[in-house]
Amino acid sequence: MFKLNPQLYEKIKHFAKFPQTGVSLRQMVMFGQKPSPATFFKASQFLHEELPIRLAHRVKELDELPRSLGDMPSIIKVKNWYAQSFQELIELPPPEITSELKASFRDAAKNSQSLPQSSPNLAIPQSKPTGKYYPTIGHRYYNNFENIKCTPPILSYTDSFVKAIENIKRRHDPVVTTMAQGIMEYKQHRKTSMIDADVQQFLDRFYMSRIGIRMLIGQHSALYRGPFMRNYVGVICTRTNIKDIAQDAIANARFICEDHYGLFRAPEVKMFCPGDIEFMYVPSHLNHMVFELLKNSLRAVVERFGPDYEDEYPPIKLVIAHGKEDITIKISDEGGGLPRSGIPVVWTYMYTTAQAQELEPEFNKSEFKAPMAGFGYGLPISRLYARYFGGDLKLISMEGYGTDAYLHLNRLSNSDEPLIM
Ligand SMILES: Nc1ncnc2c1ncn2[C@@H]1O[C@H](COP(=O)(O)OP(=O)(O)OP(=O)(O)O)[C@@H](O)[C@H]1O
Ligand SMILES: [Mg+2]
Repeated sequence: MFKLNPQLYEKIKHFAKFPQTGVSLRQMVMFGQKPSPATFFKASQFLHEELPIRLAHRVKELDELPRSLGDMPSIIKVKNWYAQSFQELIELPPPEITSELKASFRDAAKNSQSLPQSSPNLAIPQSKPTGKYYPTIGHRYYNNFENIKCTPPILSYTDSFVKAIENIKRRHDPVVTTMAQGIMEYKQHRKTSMIDADVQQFLDRFYMSRIGIRMLIGQHSALYRGPFMRNYVGVICTRTNIKDIAQDAIANARFICEDHYGLFRAPEVKMFCPGDIEFMYVPSHLNHMVFELLKNSLRAVVERFGPDYEDEYPPIKLVIAHGKEDITIKISDEGGGLPRSGIPVVWTYMYTTAQAQELEPEFNKSEFKAPMAGFGYGLPISRLYARYFGGDLKLISMEGYGTDAYLHLNRLSNSDEPLIM
């Protein structure tokens, strides 16, 4: 088994001194449906610099956690995965590039369009530090090198690079469950049932960083392998149809609800959507968020009225609104709501009022496998997904009546990745 050694840790600390560079959704779609090999090579070079920096920041932070948390076996396991991935990347040799080819890259870069400007992420007000060392992305990620022919060493490098990062992504599949396990170990060790604000903030930063790393890897691998579908750039759909996605999420959430409570018909979900709204987004992220919110609302309604009163369930309303900047999805239920004092708590990782689910080791497969409820990860993780592209998620509740969840999405898609939270 891989273990972090002092020599490697010295390197990691060095890399963690470099600031991370954010990429906005709008910048990611510059590549178009299928980038040329040379354009793709440029992006590989950027990621080959950026990913080790991001991984190093995580290892360092995991290493500097208070000992009562950092010493938990599952946390150490996660730290070792990050360190191993860091090592694999820095040991992957860059390709030999002839001076001729270097010159043509330089010339083409001069004429290439630079990336569109991003704007501060509204969910994290001071997302852009103003210090002079803040790296701007400039030409680093994207350059249009359509007319440059790649040499075999470059082609074989991009291929091994994609394989390496795909392998890393796979290694990190069980990170969420393993971290959750680590938090449980910590709670048992400390004999408390809630985590404190520092740990909560650490987890927000940690999972947000994970979303970013996985987005960049997933996007790069999809740009390389396809399928190259119309209206798609990698995993981003430039014409995401919000109504279609909501309809899917409704069907899935209701199915799980019926299955879980043994119902004939789950509460109805009425959708109000002014026409076909299309915007640039990652459909799987959107689906995840709406699905999680619907599961919570369905559960609240069923548990308030009881599984034997199917005919009396008030419908859940899903309202979609769109303006110039924002698209907002409001999900309203009459599931009895929460007191105001309960609102901050619902954003806490592993806070749930459902019967806690066991985290089985075999369960480590990948993401959470959509049970009705029980991990206390649904809301906090959905909020991170929303904030990642400059949106947000808010809950407003009327105790004794029901809850409204507001999912805001940034339509301009030009928000900075929230790298510092
Ligand atoms: N619409 C709602 N009405 C009433 N309570 C809610 C609602 N949404 C969330 N909650 C409360 O917030 C808690 C946390 O929600 P969250 O989705 O984060 O976790 P969960 O549903 O318990 O588990 P899972 O991780 O499987 O989603 C819930 O257990 C529930 O008590
Ligand atoms: Mg939930």
